[in-house]
Amino acid sequence: MPKRGWEMPERNATSEDVYVNRRKFLKTAGLSSLGAAALLTGCGHEKIFEPFEDTSSPVGGGSGTGGSNTGSNEPLYPARVNDAFKELDRPLTDEIIAGSYNNFYEFSQGKTGIMKLAESFSANPWTVTVDGLVRNPKTYDLDDLARRMPLEERLYRLRCVEAWSMAIPWTGFPMKALIDEVEPLSNASYVKMTTFIDPQTAPGQWNNPQWPWPYVEGLRMEEAMNELSLLATGIYGHALPNQHGAPVRLVVPWKYGFKNIKSIVRIEFTDTAPVTFWNTLVPAEYGFVANVEPDVPHPRWSQANERFISKNVSSPEMRPTLPYNGYEQYVGHLYI
Ligand code: MTE
Repeated sequence: MPKRGWEMPERNATSEDVYVNRRKFLKTAGLSSLGAAALLTGCGHEKIFEPFEDTSSPVGGGSGTGGSNTGSNEPLYPARVNDAFKELDRPLTDEIIAGSYNNFYEFSQGKTGIMKLAESFSANPWTVTVDGLVRNPKTYDLDDLARRMPLEERLYRLRCVEAWSMAIPWTGFPMKALIDEVEPLSNASYVKMTTFIDPQTAPGQWNNPQWPWPYVEGLRMEEAMNELSLLATGIYGHALPNQHGAPVRLVVPWKYGFKNIKSIVRIEFTDTAPVTFWNTLVPAEYGFVANVEPDVPHPRWSQANERFISKNVSSPEMRPTLPYNGYEQYVGHLYI
């Protein structure tokens, strides 16, 4: 019986690890230790994730979800709909709601201001380096990559560890298509993904230099190769806006939302489990596997139910959490 979620921290993070990472980041950010001490005042990480209880209204109006795209005039969107994922057991979340209620700690711990805070972030041009234990390492121009890969639209449920959920139409390509291209070596057992680091434009990185930036997430090889694993470049029939993780992010709908790493700059194949951002920050609460499991409570709240948000953040619909977020038929065999 495999261990589950946070029962399975892949390493024992120590305060020294966090300290060392902070030192590295302060160096990257060019901050003096005096300035850092000032920035650190009042910061703590124990209660960063909270169960859903936000009752504020989403920001923004009907002006779209903003942000940059992959940078060409050629119409990549809308893409062909994959028939296997064209229906869900619930209505889609309104685009303006999904685009104005986000988690993106590089910009803020709040959820309703990310769209605005990420406006000046530039996702074009963008490269993604794919390397590590592969036969064909390469740095890809994201625009070229998106044009060559088989883009398709899929409707997926999204379940945050905080217990809110949404239903989202993503556009992207199967992660397997990229993996096949780089040809992993036989000892590649994990895929490590990394987000950009740029405290000058990302206030969350600037304000919290003690956190273990950059954001890192990972999958086991067979999870990455699973047909559900999508590298998304679009949402709601157009390129990803910044707040959703432009220009490319991971979507693994059977796992909690924090596994769905945004704005990826590097994909590395490794033979050891990657050390992830959340597992480093709060090892007792956020494990590596992090599958959606209704009967495994978060240490601070139940996961039995979720608050499904479709039209209004303040009035979500309470629903029972589905095992593997409703994707057991696709991934259940991976965890037997
Ligand atoms: N990726 C990065 N780089 N930084 C983050 O803070 N937050 C995660 C995930 N990916 C996060 C991230 C969490 S907690 C969630 S729930 C989803 O992104 C939210 O995706 P959305 O804002 O597009 O709905």
